[in-house]
Parts: sequence; structure tokens; C-alpha cells
Amino acid sequence: MNFALTDTQKAFQKTAADFAAKELAPTVVARYDRAAKYDRKPFEKFAALGMCGIPWSKDLGGAGGDYVSYALAIEELSKVDPGFGICMSVHVSLCSWPIYKYGTPELHKKYLVPLAQGKTMGAFGLTEPNAGSDAAMQQTVAEDKGDHYLVNGTKIFNTNGGEADTYVVFVMTDKSKGLKGISALVMEKTMPGFSIGKTEQTMGLRSARVRELVFQNVKVPKENLLGKEGEGFKIAMTTLDGGRIGVASQALGIAAGALDLAINYTKQRVQFGKPISANQALQFMMADMATKVQAARLLTYHAAYTKDSSASYSKEAAMAKLFASDIAMEVASDAVQLFGGYGYCEDYPAERYLRDAKITQIYEGTNQVQRMVISGAILR
Ligand code: CAA
Repeated sequence: MNFALTDTQKAFQKTAADFAAKELAPTVVARYDRAAKYDRKPFEKFAALGMCGIPWSKDLGGAGGDYVSYALAIEELSKVDPGFGICMSVHVSLCSWPIYKYGTPELHKKYLVPLAQGKTMGAFGLTEPNAGSDAAMQQTVAEDKGDHYLVNGTKIFNTNGGEADTYVVFVMTDKSKGLKGISALVMEKTMPGFSIGKTEQTMGLRSARVRELVFQNVKVPKENLLGKEGEGFKIAMTTLDGGRIGVASQALGIAAGALDLAINYTKQRVQFGKPISANQALQFMMADMATKVQAARLLTYHAAYTKDSSASYSKEAAMAKLFASDIAMEVASDAVQLFGGYGYCEDYPAERYLRDAKITQIYEGTNQVQRMVISGAILR
């Protein structure tokens, strides 16, 4: 068993880490967090480094890397700005991947190549007011009009919504068939009838954008169908399998970032005449934090490795997402504790990690959904 990263994987990791230090530095993050400001420039700069399509081959506009490299990049970005981490994770895992996997060569050329090059940004429209964990309850309808579909409906909690150019959207093409009547379409923000609704004011990840999408008689060409009619639920589930590796990487980055903060702070903060890191009680606390981070890292890298090397990775992805998001909350909470009263104040960065960590237990399937996926796999 070889746990060493390859030179190529290390290069992607370093590029992302350098970018995060330079472009997403904590003062910028803090400013964007407070003001809930959105800025597209980091995406454009990351694109200029050729990092928006890490796992896709160069002929598809990608960087020719693998999913492990992609996971490493999301971890490094999320150590500094998990809002940018989820922007990239949705762009790659939830929008580019289903087009790569289920799209025709024409759809690759039209949508995947610009996504991989970072000329366009991607998003994923599955969640609706009555289709959250129960993703099969899709109400958005696509009526067959011969050479096109006419799409009507609303999607909510759409990460990158309104900022993204290309959307993978799930629709009912045949309501009578239940989840076998769901299909997946590629839609563009500029299609007439496609509009952007409410912007959510979120507890964390405030540098990211989460919005409602509204479709009123949007004409979508038939050639924008991914896979076949009725395959949408399977496409959504397999896409979320990969997305959960992205969220696990993001949660891992949050935990690792919070741990780094705590280590640095406790070495500098002097009380009772010595740095507080000299107290064994705090040393043991940080030992536990570091052990949790390392366990989450191994699960996450293993899930990414499994995706690179095997057709089946649902269970591994769900386990990584479940564990990494739970320990992100624990480690971020411990970091706040180690900062003492300052940890509770917004002038210090610890509290932001705690707010950012919470959503990782909720999106791309709550952690009870991850348990459904894992138990389904082990009891099948
Ligand atoms: N791969 C392939 N096929 C799969 C699959 C997978 N991972 N999971 C399920 N399927 C197939 C099953 O094999 C089954 O097919 P057959 O009928 O042919 O046997 C079919 O799909 C139905 O499976 P289930 O009966 O297990 O489906 P279910 O309705 O009980 O749902 C669920 C299972 C796991 C709870 C699923 O609904 C789910 O994952 N829900 C959570 C949705 C979610 O994650 N939403 C997040 C939105 S995106 C987001 O959060 C983005 C963001 O903002 C960052």
C-alpha cells in the first residue's frame, strides 16, 4: 500500500495552496464574509492557472489530472476560503462531471470545454421546495415540444446560482413514471425565461452565492439532454457520489485550517507566564483534533482514489463526507474554545470556521442521507 502522492498530485496541491495564500488570504476572506460580498475574480484567476478542470483531459480543456488532485486542490482552497472551495466543487463535480460522463461529443465541445477552461462557471439544479433529501419528488416539468423541451419550475439553494453560466438541471419529462420519469438537461443562464430569484443570506460560506432559479417557458433544445430520457435520477445520484468527495475535501480543509489556526494561536497566547500550548490539557485537545483531521484525510483521499480507479465509489464518498463534515464541526468548535473569548469575536477568524463547517453536514445530502447510502451498500 502506497500512501505517497505523485509529483503531479503534489504540483496541483501546491498550486492551489499558493493561490489560496495569495488570492484568498484571510483578510480578504474576512471582508467578503462580513459583507457577504461576491467576487468572480478568484474564479477567473484560478482559471488562468488552468485549475478549473483538473480531472479532465487536455483535449477537453482540462488539466489532465485525477480526482485525487482535484480533492487536494479543494482541501487547500477550503483551508482558507471554503466559500471558494464549494464554488469550485460544484463547478467541477456537479456540473462538469455529468456533462463529461453523460454528454455527447457535441455537448462536450459546447459546454464542457469552456467549463474546464474556466471561461464559463457551472451549477447544478436538483433541490426544490419539496424535493430536498427526497430528490425523487421533482416538480419542475419539461414538456416535449418536438425539437425542444419547454421547462417550467423553480430550483432552490443553488450554489453558484446566478453567477454560473451553465446549469445541469433535473426535470420531470414523464410524471407518471415517478423517479424513472426524471431527466437531466443542460441549461444556460441566457436562455429566455431563465431568471434568478431570491439570494439566500446564509450563516456561513458567505463569499459564495446561493440563489433560487426560476424557469418560465424556457426552451431547451433536445440535444441538451444528458443520457436518455428517464435516466435523470441515476445521473443525479452518480453525480452526487462525486460531489460528496468534493464536500468531504471542503470539510477536511475547514478542519485542517481551524487546526492550523489553533496551533498558531496557542503558541503565541501567553497566560500564567507561558504560552497556553504548554498546557497538557490543551496539547491533548490538539492531539485529538489532529487525529480526526488525519482520519478524515485518509477517508477523503481514499474515496477520491476509489473514484479514479473503480466504477463504484458511492459508499466511500458517503463515508468520507459523513466523517469529514462531522469532524469539521468538532475541530472548528474546539478551535473556538482554544481561542477563549476571542474565539467568539468576529475580529478573530475561528468563529467563521465554525459557521462555515455547519453546512457540510447538510448539503449534498444531510448526514442521515449519507448513512442511508452507506447502510444500503453494506446491507445489500
Ligand atoms: N448510483 C446509481 N444509481 C443509484 C444510486 C447511485 N449512487 N443511488 C440510487 N440509485 C438508483 C437505485 O439503484 C434505484 O434504481 P432502480 O429503481 O433501478 O433499482 C433508484 O436510483 C432509486 O434508488 P433509491 O430507492 O435508493 O432512491 P430513494 O428515492 O430512496 O433516494 C437517497 C435515495 C439516497 C435518499 C437520494 O434521494 C439522495 O441522495 N437524496 C439526497 C439528495 C441530495 O443530496 N441533494 C443535494 C442537492 S445538491 C447540493 O446540495 C449542492 C450544493 O448546494 C452544494
